[in-house]
Amino acid sequence: IKHLRSAADLDAATATLILDTAAEMAALSGREVKKLPALRGRTVVNLFYEDSTRTRISFEAAAKRLSADVINFSAKGSSVSKGESLKDTALTLQAMGADAVVIRHSASGAPHRLANWVDGSVVNAGDGTHEHPTQALLDAYTMRSRLGRLDGLKVAIVGDVLHSRVARSNVLLLTTLGADVTLVGPPTLIPLDVAAALSKSTKVSYDLDSVLPDSDVVMMLRVQTERMQDSYFPSAREYSRRYGLDMPRMRKLPEHAVVMHPGPMNRGMEIAPEVADSPRSTIVEQVANGVSVRMAVLYLLLGGK
Ligand code: CP
Repeated sequence: IKHLRSAADLDAATATLILDTAAEMAALSGREVKKLPALRGRTVVNLFYEDSTRTRISFEAAAKRLSADVINFSAKGSSVSKGESLKDTALTLQAMGADAVVIRHSASGAPHRLANWVDGSVVNAGDGTHEHPTQALLDAYTMRSRLGRLDGLKVAIVGDVLHSRVARSNVLLLTTLGADVTLVGPPTLIPLDVAAALSKSTKVSYDLDSVLPDSDVVMMLRVQTERMQDSYFPSAREYSRRYGLDMPRMRKLPEHAVVMHPGPMNRGMEIAPEVADSPRSTIVEQVANGVSVRMAVLYLLLGGK
């Protein structure tokens, strides 16, 4: 594939190739091979119109470990504040010879538009409430490395599904790879049309306590208060009581089950601090795996040697 705009761009064989390549990248890093020459002479542009900590830093680390030249572009402080359009920004990057553009944007579909204007590969680093495919890949990688498989794995994705690009990409990728996904949350945050649009094979539950004992993975989503209307979200206290993962709830999980969160977290709302910091939590591991997975994506898209 040339671009990674959506998890739907990936069939099972391609997704598995990315995960296997990421495992090779991680093994090399573990053997103290800090830098590979694979993308020497290639240019990767990180084009971030929305805030990010993990994704921006890990794409930068991934490109640098592959010896690519990296240009970091943040909309804040650029000519975007003078009204420059995405298209004109894209043409400027094109003139500078970008081989890959990694884009985060508040508008759903921005990576698809960008791919029409640049010759290089486009990687979606999160577009509005639409998708975040490399997050789904690093989540799948983390599940596979902790639990040994994805096929048949029971994954509960919990919380603000309505606004979550992470949930959307995870449903697409995990169902492609044979996992059994249940979306859990209040009805206002998982309307049935949203669930149906994500995947026909995905189940929906409004009762977290009944789903936990039969889950291998519980993935807590950030409550996106910045995108919330009062009608969706009655109160933080009520939300936390019904859908927050605290210690008593975590004990309902099977012994082997893991707790995930893409970050950033609202500690004390969707996840209790002692759960986030427990040995069952893969949150820090997810961030570390993100570098290997993004190395694999850049390497495979750019035909690294
Ligand atoms: N998970 C994630 O996308 O985090 P950032 O917003 O910090 O990149």
